[in-house]
Amino acid sequence: MIIVKTNDEIMKMKKAGEILASLHKEIKKIIKPGITTLEIDKFVEEYLEARGAFPEQKGYHGYPFATCASVNDEICHGFPRDKQLEDGDVVSIDMVVRYDGWLADSAWSYSVGEISEEAKKLMDVTKESLYLGIEKAIPGNRLGDIGHAIQQHVEGNGFSVVKDFVGHGIGKDMHEDPQVPHYGKPGRGARLVEGMVITIEPMVNSGEWNMKLDENKWTARTTDGSLSVQYEHTIAITEDGPVILTDQEEER
Ligand code: MF3
Ligand code: CO
Repeated sequence: MIIVKTNDEIMKMKKAGEILASLHKEIKKIIKPGITTLEIDKFVEEYLEARGAFPEQKGYHGYPFATCASVNDEICHGFPRDKQLEDGDVVSIDMVVRYDGWLADSAWSYSVGEISEEAKKLMDVTKESLYLGIEKAIPGNRLGDIGHAIQQHVEGNGFSVVKDFVGHGIGKDMHEDPQVPHYGKPGRGARLVEGMVITIEPMVNSGEWNMKLDENKWTARTTDGSLSVQYEHTIAITEDGPVILTDQEEER
């Protein structure tokens, strides 16, 4: 069942989204060779606590950390580690913030030091595909319009879209209906209506789209060892078009 939100509720989710967006901008400043993803995770917990907000991922189905920190061939749900990031790494930080009872969800990929041309292109194309998907998040369109726009751009650039993980409705719960695939056919799938709030969160691999799970049963990584990155926003569908609740403004 899709839970449609009132304008008032969307404004509350935007508060959570603003905290999350400002946190991503802080992470961008501190991420460099030598820092560990466990240190970033601690930073996130303290940042949120100081603002009366809560890292919703911690304890979610037993997930042990505030953030998911997925490095290089890790697709998503990477565990923060006590290992220094190195020059050339690419790391995706995914977080869900609860504030005043409402949630926002956003993942962003960061380069560590100097990265390869291929990694740069993968990051650019994935971020572009997110915004192409967001453009389709308007009342009257269908979920397949979003997925198709993302898939076209990604595959047109020689990369592949991960199929095992999808975007989702979000509100007071992290995962609500509908599921939002990052692939699909135009004009297919559920119709988008005003007041829906969804995440769009393409995970894109430089090689094959397939994944395998680590022994920790959480972390997904590419089967071929290729790089994977992810960009995610929480989007409200309104009569004025898509509103990005986790917008970092200059980071487009
Ligand atoms: N933020 C992720 C999502 O987009 C959820 C991470 S799973 C968790 O759905 F258990 F770590 F929270
Ligand atoms: Co999400």
